[in-house]
Amino acid sequence: MTLHKRTTSTLILLFCIGMLMTASARERLLMDFGWKFAFGHPFDKSRDFNTGTSYFSYMAKAGYGDGAAAAGFDDRTWRSLDVPHDWAVEAPFEGRASHSHGYKAVGPGFPETSVGWYRKTFTMPAADKGKRIFLEFDGVSRDARVWVNGFYCGNEPSGYNSFSFDVSEYLNYGGSNVIAVRADVTTEEGWYYEGAGIYRHVWLTKTDPLHVPQYGTFVTSQVDGNNAKVTARVKVMNKHLSAVSFDVHHRVVDALGATVAEALERGKSLKSFGKDEFVTEFAVPNARLWSLNDPHLYQLHTTLTRDGKVVDEYHTNFGIRTIRFDANKGFFLNGEHVKLKGTNNHQDHAGVGVAMPDGLQEYRIRQLKVMGSNAYRCSHNPPTPELLDVCDRLGMLVIDENRLMGITDHDLHQCERLIVRDRNHPSIIAWSIGNEEWAIETYERGADIVRVMQAFVKTIDSTRYVNAAVSGAWETGIGTAIDVMGFNYLRHGNTDVHHANHPWQPSMGTEEGSTNTTRGIYFDDPEKQYLSAYDRPTNGFVSIQQGWKHYAERDYLAGMFIWTGFDYRGESTPYSFPSVGSYFGMLDQCGFPKDNVYYLRSWWGNEPVLHILPHWNWPGREGQEIDVWVYSNMDEVELIVNKKSLGRQTMQRNGHLSWKVPYAPGTVEAIGYKNGKRFMNKLVSTTGTPAAVALVPDRASVKADREDISVVTVQVVDKKGAVVPDANHEVMFEITGPGRIIGVGNGDPTSHEADRFVESVKVLSTSGWKEYAAQSLDVNAAVQPAFDDATWHDAFPGGGLAPGSVPQTTVYRGTIQVAETELKGQINWMFRSIGRHQKVYVNGRLLADGLSDDVARHEFALSADWLKPGNNVVAIVAEPFVKKHAWDNVNVHPGDVQVVLPPAQWQRKTFNGLAQIIIQSTRQPGDIVLTATSKGLKSGSLVIKSLPAKVRPSL
Ligand code: GAL
Repeated sequence: MTLHKRTTSTLILLFCIGMLMTASARERLLMDFGWKFAFGHPFDKSRDFNTGTSYFSYMAKAGYGDGAAAAGFDDRTWRSLDVPHDWAVEAPFEGRASHSHGYKAVGPGFPETSVGWYRKTFTMPAADKGKRIFLEFDGVSRDARVWVNGFYCGNEPSGYNSFSFDVSEYLNYGGSNVIAVRADVTTEEGWYYEGAGIYRHVWLTKTDPLHVPQYGTFVTSQVDGNNAKVTARVKVMNKHLSAVSFDVHHRVVDALGATVAEALERGKSLKSFGKDEFVTEFAVPNARLWSLNDPHLYQLHTTLTRDGKVVDEYHTNFGIRTIRFDANKGFFLNGEHVKLKGTNNHQDHAGVGVAMPDGLQEYRIRQLKVMGSNAYRCSHNPPTPELLDVCDRLGMLVIDENRLMGITDHDLHQCERLIVRDRNHPSIIAWSIGNEEWAIETYERGADIVRVMQAFVKTIDSTRYVNAAVSGAWETGIGTAIDVMGFNYLRHGNTDVHHANHPWQPSMGTEEGSTNTTRGIYFDDPEKQYLSAYDRPTNGFVSIQQGWKHYAERDYLAGMFIWTGFDYRGESTPYSFPSVGSYFGMLDQCGFPKDNVYYLRSWWGNEPVLHILPHWNWPGREGQEIDVWVYSNMDEVELIVNKKSLGRQTMQRNGHLSWKVPYAPGTVEAIGYKNGKRFMNKLVSTTGTPAAVALVPDRASVKADREDISVVTVQVVDKKGAVVPDANHEVMFEITGPGRIIGVGNGDPTSHEADRFVESVKVLSTSGWKEYAAQSLDVNAAVQPAFDDATWHDAFPGGGLAPGSVPQTTVYRGTIQVAETELKGQINWMFRSIGRHQKVYVNGRLLADGLSDDVARHEFALSADWLKPGNNVVAIVAEPFVKKHAWDNVNVHPGDVQVVLPPAQWQRKTFNGLAQIIIQSTRQPGDIVLTATSKGLKSGSLVIKSLPAKVRPSL
């Protein structure tokens, strides 16, 4: 199939669109809810549901998915859950697990927990037949294989790529369908916590055979004074079996919904399976530019019509703005200089790992914005689409990063997919093609690779800059060839020298800082593996202040990206186990600010700042000198300790102030002066002892859509309500009403407490089946546990009765082993019919009589009273199935028993006074009531209103 590029002459008109039907012609349904999950195995096929072991495997014949990939596979014993889901975050910590990935017992060395299977059953309306149906994954960690109704759809090795399949002909319209996904994290892709499983959204999109393919649009703009010229490149695909002709109608709509430009292109045609790109230009008068303070988004509505009927409608968010990197002056947005005040970030958050609800993406970007940050580097992989949506919406510039450098078609294709997916996001200013590629970065080969990748990237998007981050020698290799130089760490070279030697090259600090701090800790405690939160150079890296001063003072440097905005799991440098989380963040894993945040707020933000560190609770250190620092953007600051002034000091730009203060409990007050006048003050007091637990939500109401969240801060406070900064108390949580807890955390990088408390599901196999002809038995006695079946033979010899056999009523006996603890759970026998006229018994108790075999699957809830720890006897009396053909398979497995053990009560220790609990709505509106109790403290409680809301269409 060839792709013709064609530019259609500009057609700008305000024309009557009354004739066009505006019905929504495509549907996009969220597929996040109601999945089943179980662990498989990377190499032991018997523990991987024997998938791929059939004579004809799923690779051999279409629709031959076997094992857990088979349409008819019985997944009823599996755990039920919603995605996004990260099974790594639910795993325990283990010292032999991967350091870089945060010592979770998954991945290399943990085969039992490295393969996860997901299955989802859904129905498709009969009316959808004839449409094209696409199954779309935002991302699966990792090496995902996907089947639909047993048809193998394909494999996506990367945990960071979005991918989709057209599954139209594999679906049952007017019937039941099943998706199976196998994810395998045995091999790590990154050197940081990556999570495991379907950790991003899943979608089902329905379109007409004539449609705009996913990511099929590319909208660019040129700004000329108040006006903009917008160019829309729109691909159209014809999956009809014959040629079609159609019209393309575009509307550019502003944020208020007003149409500001439109165009109609008539008489287009495409042959069957033809694909073409149509280019349309619009003038947008008085364009409202996308900027950091006014991140205005336009939307391009593309409508395809045939004979006046709308067949497809595709919406593309975009922004009108200009970007420019200048080798001497840095970065410009809409012609205005913007110093990039950036952070690097991985994808995980406390409590949920990488399975981030969209609301948490927003929470995190808001935290960074409050810090004064205006830029975000997606280190070191393509982010979720939703993160980019938030950056577009809130005004945050983005460096979007490719995963692996390389020049093979495969490598370039990965990079292309990232760019094609993301290139309409106005927030993105640069494509990063790689990070610290040590094998090549200092060599000519690195430069050669960069030249190829860079040229390639520009064929897909010439409107952005290309960047790579370099940590080795900057003066050779990649540093000599890359469009925008990315300096990783000042310790590796001299940016002034590099700039002098490469006067043509814009540059920025793609990683800087790498300081190690623990929130709320002010004295290093190597035993506990806590590092003081004072900003200081660590391990040969500069401090945040040193780094920022360097970048702030040089115009040619476009800015700096701190390593990192948030702490993340893994890379617990300079420590190893039992420490499991990083120390690099300006904010901890929960997003609680460390003191560095106030340094940055002082010099990155626009608000007056006055912040004192440390806290003033130092029992046992009376009389000892404490370093008191003040972060502020006031001209001068006076420090008053226990009512005595220690004098005023003048603040240097991008600096901080410090005093040595002998400790005595009481108060430390800072008074900020501007232009010689008192402007603001800040008081830090020694608190009282812990008295109560307080709960503070970031949002007091949520949408009742099963997605929205409120991030609740748990505080241990004294009698006056002040947070006790060294309180580490176990807090238990209870939730009632239409909400659920999805994760807890506290920012302690050494904590091994559970982040999630989830039900555990055990599968007890019914095994040891024997059989005997009923006519030679006293059946009532033979189904009793005490009956001696020693002379019986193994059940189902030959896997079912041969064609033509006359079935005899038969008694089958098997056992289930039940542990004492399992008797506390919900116990369900997921029964599968093995014959006709079945009677089913457990320990001699009749569960069902005359059980129909029309429905092959039945479910028996087993009361704990009917069972005992150890061996339990199950018995079935039935006429076994007879095969029609010798090659038929009839069911000879009466199903397994699922035990669901309820989760333990949610709990978390506060760490230095704080913990976090993330609450998610259900679809019922009402009051969510959260209660927090801690021994010896007054309990806290909180009501979050879950309000009726428009829910995203879902399946
Ligand atoms: C950098 C690297 C980051 C992270 C950091 C930890 O060199 O680019 O991904 O590993 O070191 O210090």
